[in-house]
Amino acid sequence: MNFKSSLDRIRQGMNLNADFSDQSITARSIPIQPAFYDFSLFPEYKEFTTMEWYYAKQKYSKNQFLAHVGSSDATVTLAGRELINYSSYNYLALACDPRVKAAAKQAIDDFGASTGSGRSITGEVDLHQKFEQEICKVLGTEDAVVSVGGYSTNAFTIGYLCRPQDLIIYDELIHNSALVGCKMTTSRRLSFPHNDYDALDRLLTEHRGKHERVLILVEGVYSMDGDIPDVPRLIEIKKKHRALLMVDEAHSMGVIGPRGLGVTDYFPIKASDIDILYGSMSKAFGTCGGYVAGPKPLVAILKNYAPGVLLYGAAPTPANTAAGLESLRIMQSEPERVARLRANADYFLAKAKENGLDTYNSKDSGVVPIMTRDSELALWLSIQLFDAGICSFPMLYPIVPRDKSRLRFFINCNHTQQQMDETIDCIVENLARAPKSKGVM
Ligand SMILES: Cc1ncc(COP(=O)(O)O)c(C=O)c1O
Repeated sequence: MNFKSSLDRIRQGMNLNADFSDQSITARSIPIQPAFYDFSLFPEYKEFTTMEWYYAKQKYSKNQFLAHVGSSDATVTLAGRELINYSSYNYLALACDPRVKAAAKQAIDDFGASTGSGRSITGEVDLHQKFEQEICKVLGTEDAVVSVGGYSTNAFTIGYLCRPQDLIIYDELIHNSALVGCKMTTSRRLSFPHNDYDALDRLLTEHRGKHERVLILVEGVYSMDGDIPDVPRLIEIKKKHRALLMVDEAHSMGVIGPRGLGVTDYFPIKASDIDILYGSMSKAFGTCGGYVAGPKPLVAILKNYAPGVLLYGAAPTPANTAAGLESLRIMQSEPERVARLRANADYFLAKAKENGLDTYNSKDSGVVPIMTRDSELALWLSIQLFDAGICSFPMLYPIVPRDKSRLRFFINCNHTQQQMDETIDCIVENLARAPKSKGVM
């Protein structure tokens, strides 16, 4: 058996590949084996050690988990070297803005490092309320709730709203946090091909009538491909079928639209046309946390009933909330940051295309993939770039299909044209001398 098929066999047992639709419990009795209670025999660990062995054999440096010093925006200092950085989604460089840092420090002075409990039981501080009021004002929603983690807010919102008699229909490229949210439910789940609105419409025509609530899940900017769905079309479809539409704004808020205020800024639509606007604070906001904005009843349900959004968990820290609030204010008062980000992303994309690089579907966002369509080549290229002082991580199988392997570039408002020119030149030069892939990964 070759390396690739033995890896595939290991991966079959990994939780990552669990079939969401198979919720049956086996009735047969299973002999208890060490593989059930010894972590070193779990397939994930076998995959990990196999990959470590392969990296060592190929003399590939695994550049993950390197601690950086200083801030991570257009550049990052890793292992004592300053690199041009495309691995940070600190799009507007707000994570290291002196005003954002000062707001976080002030919040610690005012309230401490933690609020001491969940929000409903004395963990509430006025910063939570101010953030929620500000995001409502910016988006034009009735209400909002801010929560401790971006990933968890997405997962637990979906996880709570959908029940066995409901249906979730999601774009095949939605983020893992949404997929895990789906997995928390016992709802029926169907996916539709990426941005295929006719397929979505057909699925709804066929299945809408068999379910009570129907939730459609899409992203404002797809985090791997950097493309933007046709949200007005999605609104039309969801209205036709009386379904609920949830848009994940993790990579669109702070990035797209003339003022950078996400899908409701980019398209001529109203926030009230979207049932659930979810956002992460770890991207353009430069901090940590998540929020959901939408109609008052939705927010009341999430705040008072949904485990993991606020209930049974800690409140967002004062420092994170204050940083998010300050970032939101700067986004509005300094639209030139978004304009710089837009100009940089357009420049990078145009330059890549001009040089014959495959940027797949990327358009108008801060995410630009450079497709290698081969895992080994993506890995090799990322290592060459790293050695040349450029940091961009490869997206490999099983995160993406093998023929969609790529390097992903997050563009920053502080990248310079010189940095971007150097990067594209370096990619082109390396691809020209790349060894022929053995297709083993
Ligand atoms: C599309 C998308 N949604 C949700 C999340 C989760 O957000 P967070 O990083 O705040 O946990 C991410 C994180 O990368 C993301 O890319």
